[in-house]
Amino acid sequence: MHSKRIKLLKIMEKSRNGYLLAIESSCDDSSAAIFKGRQLLSNIISSQLDHRDLGGVVPELASRKHLENIQPVVEQALKKAGIGKSELKAIAYTQGPGLLGSLLVGAGYAKGLALSHQLPLIGIHHMEAHVLAHFIEDPHPRYPFLCLLVSGGHTQLVIMHDAFEMEVVGKTIDDAAGEAFDKTGKILGLPYPAGPEIDRLAQKGKARFKFTTPSVDGLNFSFSGLKTSILYFLRDEKKKNPDFIEQNLTDICASVQKTIVDYLLLQLEKAMEQYGLDRVAIAGGVSANSELRRRVQGLKNIGAEVFILPMKYCVDNAGMIGMAGVFKWEKEMYTTLDAPVFTK
Ligand code: KG4
Ligand code: ZN
Repeated sequence: MHSKRIKLLKIMEKSRNGYLLAIESSCDDSSAAIFKGRQLLSNIISSQLDHRDLGGVVPELASRKHLENIQPVVEQALKKAGIGKSELKAIAYTQGPGLLGSLLVGAGYAKGLALSHQLPLIGIHHMEAHVLAHFIEDPHPRYPFLCLLVSGGHTQLVIMHDAFEMEVVGKTIDDAAGEAFDKTGKILGLPYPAGPEIDRLAQKGKARFKFTTPSVDGLNFSFSGLKTSILYFLRDEKKKNPDFIEQNLTDICASVQKTIVDYLLLQLEKAMEQYGLDRVAIAGGVSANSELRRRVQGLKNIGAEVFILPMKYCVDNAGMIGMAGVFKWEKEMYTTLDAPVFTK
């Protein structure tokens, strides 16, 4: 048999049965996961709570915390999977986008391990990984499918033609959906990240306040106008009643959430129609939002095939990095030790 083919078969064999370690450190979560072939064995996340009362992620603090957390999360992931470092056959890590200092900690750790254990290194695009989280468990979507990718740093509509063929057909021109939640939460005096808290409070409230729905041509998004609209609304109401926020918090949250979700659905449905796609998925931290999940589920009523992730795969986690890593490993798509991280 041709030697190149034998080599490829050996790699296929390893990626089908071998152990892969994945590392995620793009923002404020340090996470490590172990895959055996395409099966996820462990997925450990250490979330930094240090930013809660600081109004957002403080980059310098985040990278210091990653330095403390990275080794323990890797040890825990290995332990839970029941293997030792010497049994690893490949390493995947988040190459970007994300915070420079945070990315460098994960990348440095992955590279050190790859070098010392002579293992193939696989750099992963964080946003691609959010979408590929859909392949960790069954049922997963068939290609092509449309995905609404909503996180703290990104809001995109993408068509997945294949694992690594991601066509961006719409994106935010300013803030991301997660930022819209987080910045509104800051105005309301909620801790960071405010998305989950707004979601929780909204469940007890009524969406009775109206905010200006952002309008942007085509499939792009804009959230900065919404933030201003909320800010002015609260300023005017507080002039009349200084306790307006405290007295109406759940209704304000329900109204903000409804405005954001209405807008996301509007653009998603527009994209489905424009591209004739009725297979839709949502991914990224904001896809944990209960209202968004409910409304996207509702698309089944118009004949769509809908894919919504278990909560644990919505937010940043190394499991999604590992899934993307396994797909790249199978294709021998490796990264060199001198590859830089990227922030955008
Ligand atoms: O994907 P992710 O964990 O990190 C990034 O890659 O950015 O997303 C984090 C974002 C934050 O803005 C957070 O507020 C938002 O996801 N988020 C939510 C919910 N859970 C997390 N937003 C709304 N509702 C939620 N339940
Ligand atoms: Zn993310």
